[in-house]
Amino acid sequence: MSKIALFSGKRVILGVCGSIAAYKAADLTSKLTQAGALVDVILTSAAQRFISPLSFQALSGRPVYTDMWQAEARALPSHITHIGLAEGADLMLVAPATAHSLAKLAAGLADDLLSLTALAISCPLRIAPAMDSGMIDHPAVQANLELLRRRGAHVIEPASGRVGRGRLPETPELIGQVRRVLGLDGELAGHKLLVTAGGTREALDPVRFITNRSSGKQGYAIAQAAVDAGAEVTLIATTDQLPLPAGASLELVESAEEMKRAVLAHLADCSALIMAAAVADYQPRAISPQKIKKSDQSLTLPLARTADILLEVKQKRAETGYPMLVVGFAAESENLVENASGKLQSKGLDLLVANDITADDAGFAVDSNRVVVLDMDGGLRAIDRTSKANIGAYIIERLGGLLA
Ligand code: CTP
Repeated sequence: MSKIALFSGKRVILGVCGSIAAYKAADLTSKLTQAGALVDVILTSAAQRFISPLSFQALSGRPVYTDMWQAEARALPSHITHIGLAEGADLMLVAPATAHSLAKLAAGLADDLLSLTALAISCPLRIAPAMDSGMIDHPAVQANLELLRRRGAHVIEPASGRVGRGRLPETPELIGQVRRVLGLDGELAGHKLLVTAGGTREALDPVRFITNRSSGKQGYAIAQAAVDAGAEVTLIATTDQLPLPAGASLELVESAEEMKRAVLAHLADCSALIMAAAVADYQPRAISPQKIKKSDQSLTLPLARTADILLEVKQKRAETGYPMLVVGFAAESENLVENASGKLQSKGLDLLVANDITADDAGFAVDSNRVVVLDMDGGLRAIDRTSKANIGAYIIERLGGLLA
């Protein structure tokens, strides 16, 4: 797990209850710590029947808390353990939460360190229940969850397993939820962002389409960076095969035409549109209703231009004022800066991210990218090869500056 800038120095209280899923909490502790968070683990006595405090201590590199009477709290701001844990915490996550612990949290009982700390915190509370599928649907459990929700706790829905729902979600999903909460007060809180991702597919017949090499990775990375900054994010993408950032909503599209319609439908109140998608410039003039059969030695396909989405957005923006900002991408194989600045002008963009698609260690389908970012004041910033996550964070930071 690589570092996540948002996690740096953030203190997460992880409450672990007595469930077989407690072993997943050990993995979560490890990944959160690797990502840069300070993880203070509280184990209930039932949790210690499944997994030992020593495991969590080794993984977090911090003391582990098990006892409400324990006065040893050297790593905390107060010598009273539950007060010290609660003070300055950025998030409390109870994962896995058992039916018993949910009942205690809902009733406000405080007879162990976990339930006591849950009453002392002023940070957000996220709860990830894990239990047998019959139990999770029991009216008593559902009533407790409902009460906790009404009081502002957020319940992370259990995943479905072999015998119905009730499983603790896997670590990446839980990390995504943590990420979502830690970003909520970010620079883009209150802003709606629209991001497009992936290469469009233009159908030829029922089995074939024309597409390009875009994987959607850069667009997904931008969406994650936007969620990290607290934005409300809609991702319009041609693929759902990449992990969707927790908190973002996905609209799956296929063709340039579908993407255009989806983008135009979301422009109202939109602070920024980031067109990272590789939109086809041409589509087959007609879609054959039947599979095209081979006959001649060669086949000529008549193609027609697709609509330029950014040009349509430019017009809408002139009429309505939305989106407030527009970022385009330019895939170039020659004269990078010259071609890119032409696109910046003609498409009416605030920022343009240009990449040289001839490099095989950057650009399409790989995890890294090397780009030049141009702005409407003539500014030009070259970013050497780095992760798509870092490029996403850079774009979001620039947007934050422009929106401020
Ligand atoms: N784009 C668009 N609608 C299209 C084609 C592209 O909105 N029909 C957007 C892309 O999402 C990108 C930007 O325009 O943000 C530039 O895309 P690019 O393919 O580099 O440029 P084109 O305008 O298609 O020009 P050319 O292919 O001739 O370089």
